[in-house]
Amino acid sequence: MEELYIKLLMDDHSIIEKALVIIERQLEKSKKNWSAISTLLDVLWDYGETCHNMKEEKVYFPLLLERGMPPQGPVAVMLAEHQKERDYLNKLKSLLPEAKQNKELEQEFSNIFGEYSALTKDHIWKENDILYPMGRKFVQPDDVPYLATEFKRIEQESLGVGAYTRYKTLVDALEKETGERINLLASLPIDVISDMLDALPVELTFVDAEDRVRYFNKLDKDKIFSRTLSAVGRLVQQCHPPKSIHLVNQIIQEMKEGKREQATFWIHFNGMYLFIAYYAVRDENGNYRGVVEMVQDVNPYRALEGEKRLLDES
Ligand SMILES: [Fe+2]
Ligand SMILES: [Fe+2]
Repeated sequence: MEELYIKLLMDDHSIIEKALVIIERQLEKSKKNWSAISTLLDVLWDYGETCHNMKEEKVYFPLLLERGMPPQGPVAVMLAEHQKERDYLNKLKSLLPEAKQNKELEQEFSNIFGEYSALTKDHIWKENDILYPMGRKFVQPDDVPYLATEFKRIEQESLGVGAYTRYKTLVDALEKETGERINLLASLPIDVISDMLDALPVELTFVDAEDRVRYFNKLDKDKIFSRTLSAVGRLVQQCHPPKSIHLVNQIIQEMKEGKREQATFWIHFNGMYLFIAYYAVRDENGNYRGVVEMVQDVNPYRALEGEKRLLDES
């Protein structure tokens, strides 16, 4: 679990990254939603620049330097990148009104945005993965609550009460409006998704909103509960032993009614200790899409104690 001040900074990064990706995708389209692009550019300036970058420049970076981080180290690099981000954003803001009407300027806008976005994503990666972890060695215990309080103060002073929630809601709403829901799986071939789900030490089954089995992993592999292709398309009630059907029906009914999100059981079975869980699958509006069943032998985990930080022999 990250300290609160790091979580606050990384949550800001999520808003910024999402705004970048939605604009990038809009710019690839022949018919662009300029009003969404313009609003998101404002988000990048108002939230990214005047709020997030100021948390770093006015509070976090000075504290790191005060605690002994060398001034010519990563902080200097981050400050220089902030300045480049500002320069790009200023250019983009001034170019926007004409880029909407002029194809040549539209292309220039896209090119500059591409450079700005690449720089900012790289900057965020450096902070999340290098600077913040490195900074923890300099931040003293008393600084932890101080940083979080100062970040909230800057947020409130620059953008008013509840700014983080307002901007997050705005970007999420624009993601929906533009149909640019960011789904990382969309970039993976279906075979890779399938292999990834097979690599997990769990058996997964997905039952859709009409109670029909639609997917299970490890199709050609050994399974705890053997299952063949003929299960696909069948009602889940036909795939469970009669003595547990009433439970399955109750779980699904309660999930459909929105009264339940999960159900868990653990049983002894063929020398294994099985953890069996059902999780409701919902769309972003909370509508029931189905249920995923997860079965796992948790025997290997029951005896764990302390920590294991070294790699096993391969
Ligand atoms: Fe930064
Ligand atoms: Fe940052």
